[in-house]
Formats: sequence, structure tokens, C-alpha cells
Amino acid sequence: RAPLRGQVNPGSSAPEPVTAVFESTGAWLPNGLALVEEQLLDAVDGAGPLTADAVATLKAGGKRMRPMLVLLCAGPEAGPRAIRSAVAVELIHMASLVHDDVLDRAPLRRGRPTVFASSGRDQATALGDRLFSTAFAVLADAGDEAAITELSSTAVDLARGELMQRRGAFDLSLTEDDYLERCRLKTGRLFAAACVLGRSSLDPSQADTLAAFGHRIGLAFQMLDDVLDISGPVERTGKARGTDLLDGTVTLPLIVAIESDPALAEVDLSRLDEAGAADLCDRIAETGALDEVRTRAMELIAQAKAGLESTGLDAEQVRLLELIADGV
Ligand code: FPP
Ligand code: MG
Repeated sequence: RAPLRGQVNPGSSAPEPVTAVFESTGAWLPNGLALVEEQLLDAVDGAGPLTADAVATLKAGGKRMRPMLVLLCAGPEAGPRAIRSAVAVELIHMASLVHDDVLDRAPLRRGRPTVFASSGRDQATALGDRLFSTAFAVLADAGDEAAITELSSTAVDLARGELMQRRGAFDLSLTEDDYLERCRLKTGRLFAAACVLGRSSLDPSQADTLAAFGHRIGLAFQMLDDVLDISGPVERTGKARGTDLLDGTVTLPLIVAIESDPALAEVDLSRLDEAGAADLCDRIAETGALDEVRTRAMELIAQAKAGLESTGLDAEQVRLLELIADGV
């Protein structure tokens, strides 16, 4: 059995968005995130000992961006409700990645072997289920009905996004709108839920403006993740270049590239091997599509930041959320 307990490390090994925010705020945020870290492990471990695999997944160097969003939206007065929501949101996120790696048969995540790769499909499916159900157990134990409502509909959207991706696999006639809808569901929605769950105000319009912020940075995050899949390098991304293409996942860089090089629409993704995927990545990059998608992601970030003015949060919270948006 692997040792539990890990501290959030705001030192040089922490991911950039984390260090940038930690360096410019008081102790309340690192302290809150350390509590999240502790409760994440306790929540899962409390229901029976974890395998080394499960512990590694829980501690695998995620950026903890979603918990950070919950806490930043809650502000310095963030209490047990916000910590609990942050734990539940991160558990749903981790469950979705463990399941996603089963569906993608992915060998690597965050530079380490996936649970699917190290322990097989059955273990990975069961671990994903365990993380997913623990998220709701944490909220149900506290009788947090509002959070259960928000996260259950979020989980439905995640699954809808994933199903949409499976339905659209290998289909090069996919449109930008199809892509954007899928990314709103599979990524934007959980970022939005993190922001909404953190808020302390009961004003419904604040929920809407915070959700809009989360949706925009989540969508930008996904677009940039999809650019990184094509651009690499593997040392930075922790996964092989062209993985999406090999899985048949049609992303915005490819959709945009087809607009300027229609011959790309003739490629049969189902027959692609690793060398073919690398070649296709180069062809997509040559069209300038990666810069185009990066620019569009940056526009979304700018819109997200501009929208923060009407959230009713105090100036310090806005400044920190802007840093997170820039970190994306
Ligand atoms: C990673 O994105 C995956 C997701 C954002 C969503 C995965 C969702 C499911 C598997 C649905 C069901 C799961 C639950 C728990 C509701 P990506 O595949 O674009 O990125 P990657 O390159 O990191 O794999
Ligand atoms: Mg994936």
C-alpha cells in the first residue's frame, strides 16, 4: 500500500498557473488547497484501502485548477462547503480522465503510465467508478443538496460530450459548431461548475456570470490542449503527438486546417499509424491552423477576463481569477 498524504507544493516544481497565483496571494489559498488534498485522499481511502495505482492517480501532479477556481470564487472566507465542493469537483475530473484513458486506450497521462496501461481495463474502470461515486458521497454526507444538483447535471454533460466525441469519431465533415458544443460539454461545463459551486452569494445572476467565466476558460483550455496534441513536444505534454488523430478525434486545428487545405479532408484517420499521424500533425501546422486556434483561445480568455467585472467579486478575487485565466 502506498503512503498517503501529500502537501500542495507551491515551489518550483508546481505548474505555472499554480505558482503564479500562490506567489501573489495570502496563505488562505495554499492552506485551503492543502486541505483539499488531504480530504481528497481521506474521502477515497476512507471507503477501504487504495491500491498504489489509485494513490498515484490521486497525487499525479494535476494542476488542481478546478479546486483552485472553487476556492478563488469563494474567496479568503472559503469554508468547509467550498473545500468539499473542490474535492468533489476534482474527483469527478479525475474519474473522467481515468475513464477517458480506458476509452482512448491511452498509454500516458501527465508523463506517467495511465491506470489503464499499468493495471488494465477492469481496474481502471472500477477506479474511475470509485472516484466518481466518492464525489457524490462527499456531498451527500454533508447534505449538500445544491452541490449534488449542480454536479450531477455537470456529470451528465460530461458524459454527453464524451458520447458526442465517440459518435463523431473519424468524421472529417465535423463542423466548428460540433466541436465547440462537444468541448463546452466535456470541458467547459466542469470549469463552470467549479466557479458556481465556490460562490457565496445567492444572487442567481452571479452564478450566470461566474459560469460564463468558467465556460470560456474551460473551452480555451480544451482548444489549447488540442493544439498541444498536434504541436507537442511530448516532454511538455506527457503524451504522444497526434494521439487525438490516432483515436479518430477531430479537433479544431484539423477542422481549421481543412478550410485552407481541403485535401486534408481526404485523409482516412482510421488507417493512420504513428508515422502517418506525425506527418498529418506537420501538415496541419503548415496551414497556420495552430496559431489560428491559439489566437481564438486567447480571445476567449480575454472575454472571460472582461466578464469578471460584472461578477460582483471583490477586486482581489478578480485579480487572482485573471491570473488563472492567463495560466490557461
Ligand atoms: C479529457 O479530455 C476528457 C474529458 C474532458 C472528459 C471525459 C469524460 C468522460 C469519459 C465521460 C464520463 C465520465 C464521468 C466521470 C462523468 P481529452 O480527451 O480531450 O484530453 P486528453 O488528451 O487529456 O485525453
Ligand atoms: Mg482523451
